[in-house]
Amino acid sequence: MPRTRPRDAHGRARVTERMFSIIWPRPMPPALSNISLIRATDDDISFLSALADHPEVEPFLAVGSGDEDVLRGLVSDGGTDRGPRGLFVIRSPEGELVGGLALSVVNHRSRICELSRLMIRPEKRRTGIASAAARLACRTVLVDHSFHRIQLEVYGDNLGAQALFAHVGFVREGTRRRAYWRRERWLDGVQFGMLAEEFVLNPR
Ligand SMILES: CC(C)(COP(=O)(O)OP(=O)(O)OC[C@H]1O[C@@H](n2cnc3c(N)ncnc32)[C@H](O)[C@@H]1OP(=O)(O)O)[C@@H](O)C(=O)NCCC(=O)NCCS
Repeated sequence: MPRTRPRDAHGRARVTERMFSIIWPRPMPPALSNISLIRATDDDISFLSALADHPEVEPFLAVGSGDEDVLRGLVSDGGTDRGPRGLFVIRSPEGELVGGLALSVVNHRSRICELSRLMIRPEKRRTGIASAAARLACRTVLVDHSFHRIQLEVYGDNLGAQALFAHVGFVREGTRRRAYWRRERWLDGVQFGMLAEEFVLNPR
C-alpha cells in the first residue's frame, strides 16, 4: 500500500505535528523556547513605531514602516483572522519587548506568506533573538497554518539581515536589480524563501 501524505480539510498536504516531532522532538530547542512571538495589540503600537523609526532600524525597512496608522491597521487585520498574518511583538524570556515582525498572506491559493518588518532593539542584537523569532514565524506559517512557503525581501546593502536569513535556513532565490530608490540611491531587493518541507527537515 503506498503511504499517503496527510491532508487537511481542503485536501491539501499537511506537515503534521507528528512528522514535525519525529525530526524535531519536543521540547523545542532552547533558542526557540526562550523567545516569544506574540500577536501585537494597540498597546504595542508606540513601541513598534519608535523601534521602526530608530536610526539603526529605519534605513533597513520599507519607507513609512513606523507609521502608527499603518501599524494599527496591521493589528486590526490580524485580530479578526487567526491565519498567518498581522503584527507581532518579540518578547525576551523575562517578558521584555525586544522587537517585532509582520506576516501577510500574499497568495491564498498557493499558501504563500511574507515576513516583513523584522526588527530587534539595537542593544539586544547578536544574541540570537532575531533567529529565534524568525524560526517561530516559520513554524507558525509552515506548520501551524500548513502554508507551503514563506518569503521575504531584503535591501541589497543589508548584509547583516541577509546573513541572518541564510543562518535561519532561508534560500536566497534571486535579486531584483536596482529595484528601490532608498537613501538617495538605487538598491537591489534580495529575495529569500523557505518551503514547508525545508523547515521540517532542517528546523535550524
Ligand atoms: C537584522 C537584525 C534583525 C538581526 O537581529 P539579531 O537579533 O542581531 O540577529 P541574531 O542575533 O539572531 O543573528 C543570527 C546570525 O545572523 C547573522 N547576523 C545577524 N546580524 C548580523 C550583522 N549585522 N552582520 C553580520 N551577520 C549578522 C550572524 O550570522 C548571526 O550569528 P552570530 O551572531 O553568531 O554571528 C537586526 O540587526 C535588526 O533589527 N536590523 C535592523 C532592521 C533590519 O535590517 N531588518 C531586516 C529587514 S528585512
